[in-house]
Amino acid sequence: MDKYTVAANELLDFIEKSPTAYQAVANIKEALLACGFKVYQPSQKPNLKKGDRYLYTKNDSAILAFEIGNNPIKNGLRIFGAHTDSPSLRIKPNSISVKDNVIRLNTEIYGGPILNTWFDRPLSLAGRVTIKNDQSFEPKTKLIDFKKPILILPNLAIHMNREVNKGVEIKANQHLLPFIALTDEKEIKQDWFNELIAKKLDIKAEDILDFDLFVYEASPGEIVGIKNEFILAPRLDNLAMCQAGIKSLLSLSEKREFNGINILLYTDNEEVGSMTKQGANSLFLRDIIESICLNLGASRQDFLAIFDHSMMISADQAHAVHPNYSEFSDPDHRPMINGGPVIKLAASQSYASDSKSAGYFMQLCEKANVPYQWFVNRSDLRGGSTIGSITASRLPMSTVDIGNAIWAMHSSRETGGVKDIYYLEKVLKLFFNI
Ligand code: CO
Repeated sequence: MDKYTVAANELLDFIEKSPTAYQAVANIKEALLACGFKVYQPSQKPNLKKGDRYLYTKNDSAILAFEIGNNPIKNGLRIFGAHTDSPSLRIKPNSISVKDNVIRLNTEIYGGPILNTWFDRPLSLAGRVTIKNDQSFEPKTKLIDFKKPILILPNLAIHMNREVNKGVEIKANQHLLPFIALTDEKEIKQDWFNELIAKKLDIKAEDILDFDLFVYEASPGEIVGIKNEFILAPRLDNLAMCQAGIKSLLSLSEKREFNGINILLYTDNEEVGSMTKQGANSLFLRDIIESICLNLGASRQDFLAIFDHSMMISADQAHAVHPNYSEFSDPDHRPMINGGPVIKLAASQSYASDSKSAGYFMQLCEKANVPYQWFVNRSDLRGGSTIGSITASRLPMSTVDIGNAIWAMHSSRETGGVKDIYYLEKVLKLFFNI
């Protein structure tokens, strides 16, 4: 197996065991702990020093990890940011209903999925369950993943809608109730569903208070193409970027010499605007960085000044030019699959890049001997956004938005390139070693 395929297969493993942001953060935390990172508790005011490695989680679905290098305050922060969530369908509290002998689950759309890609696919459920705690009002939580396909959203047959290939409206309240079982009963209570969860978690159904449960595409991702060039998988946006950061950082020796403070910053809820306590717009980012500075013995003035000599790479997937729809890309900027990381630029500042931060990243790619390319929106299209501009307004530091070129962003299965995964890891190893 070549180095590209090895990196792509490792990504497929990570995606398969991370159906939601909760599992993604649990897996990242486990990998960090295995490499000597300790849990950071700001209230204990630990005296931080060179060589220390810590992690901090927020709400089980965001994580910040840092390591301290030479002259941390003087040399500043090097942050790699990405988001942990992906578009999906979220299960409502009283979700069970019966219609025409089928038990269905009521859902709400999370983020902006391409809805028709969720039809006729093996679907499963994962997330977090909140359970009663007799000792206090602070409930307990457990992560859950049904793993096997337990849901399906069948399409309507073409014979009942001959216009289907001209585009069909999908009504969220009517068409997005996945099927879980057949029944002869006229009515099924929510308890039936809670029993399924309880059995899976080995708890009592009556102890279940609530849950954060999401539908996910349950078949594993794969490498495709006659030359094995493509990776086709759910949640490439944005688990591919999370994986690139964690893998690069953990591949480097903790004993090595590097300058400043390296930070991995993975936030939740990007797909719904980041405006949550665990999202990129949360004050926790700035608060934890301030606490790191203070625990290094720096003053608040030092903390306020650190942003002037710091750098952030905000990573989220980018749009590759699509030959069947090539008119949707800018005529002069055609990001290619396997063409290397894409620097994203927007006059609207929906991306945080400017010529200086882009220039930093270009030099990094050149030094790492990795090709890079540009994405800009076609001038009459609005395009997307990501966490870069949001974090940059909270952490006023030079920030570049980048990503790997993929097709079908927000489909239940997205397509990227195997080489791009390897390329980005190579660039980030250099970034964390400055
Ligand atoms: Co994204």
